[in-house]
Amino acid sequence: MITVKLQRFNPEIDDAPHMESYRIPALPTDRILNLLHYIKWYIDGSLAFRRSCAHGICGSDAMRINGRNRLGCKVLVKDLITDKVNEMTIEPIKGLPLHKDLIVDMEPFFDAFRSVMPYMVTHGNEPSREWVQSIEDRERFDDTTKCIMCACCTTSCPVYWSADNYVGPAAIVAAHRFIFDSRDQAADERLEILSDAEGVWRCRTTFNCTDACPRGIQVTQAIQEVKRALMFRRI
Ligand code: SF4
Ligand code: SF4
Ligand code: FES
Repeated sequence: MITVKLQRFNPEIDDAPHMESYRIPALPTDRILNLLHYIKWYIDGSLAFRRSCAHGICGSDAMRINGRNRLGCKVLVKDLITDKVNEMTIEPIKGLPLHKDLIVDMEPFFDAFRSVMPYMVTHGNEPSREWVQSIEDRERFDDTTKCIMCACCTTSCPVYWSADNYVGPAAIVAAHRFIFDSRDQAADERLEILSDAEGVWRCRTTFNCTDACPRGIQVTQAIQEVKRALMFRRI
């Protein structure tokens, strides 16, 4: 048996979020997502949280587990529970408006994502032959293609918590993925967007984002590469 301290908030009856404790059975190999399912299915069906794939792919179950942003489906009970520690805390990610329990409003996060043109832009006629890209050119943005848009990075960033409009690390990762793609032709536009007051210069290089990323993306390094591209106006 373990204790799960869970932040609960029902906007229809609560003035503010509060913590509730649940004593539940768990195996060392259970994922945190299993614990939430247990609580929802056997104790309180009103518990609200997002999840879909349960395999670290869809990015929908980002949450604060013992104060650190993680995916509920990627953390095991044995990662947190020891002979001395028999409890854990689970809270919603920070910096986005809270809807209910672990569910936050992701729209501001997606607005920032959309603002950096996260899609391929090319000009001129459709090519008549395959667009060849060297292995070296592909490697330049390989890391940032792995993003699953979970928001763990952006909602662990102290600058994002405090600055209303900071675009946040996930949006910069999305921009990086196209800025450094040799086939894309809108790098200058994206760099212009990221050079404004709410853009890349807000980053204080504290590495919270890199630590939080469940895909192991070197988020802070990607941000540094975008800063360098802006400083030297060279991709
Ligand atoms: S490195 Fe930059 S973007 Fe990442 S958490 Fe720190 S301030 Fe935020
Ligand atoms: S960079 Fe990592 S932490 Fe940030 S949204 Fe993408 S996958 Fe999630
Ligand atoms: S449920 Fe899809 S990433 Fe966790």
